[in-house]
Amino acid sequence: MVLPARVTVVEVGPRDGLQHESGVVSTAAKIAFVDALSAAGHAVIEVSAFVSPKWVPQMADAAEVFAGITRRDGVRYTALVPNLAGLARAAAAEVTEIAIFAASSQTFSRRNINQSIDESLATYRAVCDAALAQGRRVRGYLSTCFGCPFEGPVPPARVAEVAARLLDLGVFEVAISDTIGVAHPGQIPEVLDAVTARVPLAQVALHLHDTRGTALANVLAGLQYGVTTFDSAAGGLGGCPYAPGASGNLATEDLLYMLHGMGIATGVSLDGVAAASRALAGAIGHPLPSRYLQAAVRPV
Ligand code: HMG
Ligand code: MG
Repeated sequence: MVLPARVTVVEVGPRDGLQHESGVVSTAAKIAFVDALSAAGHAVIEVSAFVSPKWVPQMADAAEVFAGITRRDGVRYTALVPNLAGLARAAAAEVTEIAIFAASSQTFSRRNINQSIDESLATYRAVCDAALAQGRRVRGYLSTCFGCPFEGPVPPARVAEVAARLLDLGVFEVAISDTIGVAHPGQIPEVLDAVTARVPLAQVALHLHDTRGTALANVLAGLQYGVTTFDSAAGGLGGCPYAPGASGNLATEDLLYMLHGMGIATGVSLDGVAAASRALAGAIGHPLPSRYLQAAVRPV
């Protein structure tokens, strides 16, 4: 079996992780978290979301977080953008790369962004046209690719159809997302077979949540398939506030432990990410779910 020698880890903790926190996380703690993650060697960090503060108050300080971080050369600092108002805010904050987020199930699309899939893709066409004209790259998330909290199973053909429509908008990558952590390794090749018939494999990333403990097994299935970009959140923070039952993202520490152990390079320091998570846990006042972090407090 030939596995990739190197993969890109997209760190989504400051956005997907902190959008789910019920307590208030100070802007200063968020800035320190992002800076600690870039010091750990992350090359891609999703910093925040320029979404409606009425919908996700946890991300209301996106502009302040971008203004406060120390940008390192070569690091891509990204943010979610749902509409042209969000793009204007992102542009004012000098965000060089944005992400749009669609869904492959109608009910989740409606609950998360108050639009049908078709309506959202029309909105995103305007966002992509404007962002690309400004010189901003656009990533495309596709939610509920392995199951929807409202509709249940989602046919892979529908996932592939919406993924192809995202690619058609000009996104450089489609993040095939397991929003509520229901995927198992048998589904990974099934969904990727359908998606890669429409989207080149090199432009496909996997965004996995670990709700049922299958995320690392799914990463292994993705590696075997040839996927080279994986999303994760430091400490295993996270979940989508509009997806009932969604809990932690795949923890970056757990992902790095497995990849590095298998000899797959990431350029990210496991110790550095663990230090970032521990500092954040002190600021938010509760332990983080990463298995590696929990094991690391005990001597071996
Ligand atoms: P809406 O209520 O249909 O639209 O929301 P609206 O235009 O009526 O906006 C409502 C209010 O928000 C208005 O203010 C707007 O001005 C304001 P009011 O007039 O009432 O005072 N507003 C904004 N303010 C700041 N920035 C903006 C913005 N847009 C509107 N960009 C909308 C539609 C899309 C805006 C809303 O539904 C929304 O923001 N949704 C985002 C939900 C979200 O962030 N979910 C979590 C991220 S997705 C995720 O976690 C999944 C992912 O991780 C992958 C996976 O795991 O599956 C990516
Ligand atoms: Mg997510």
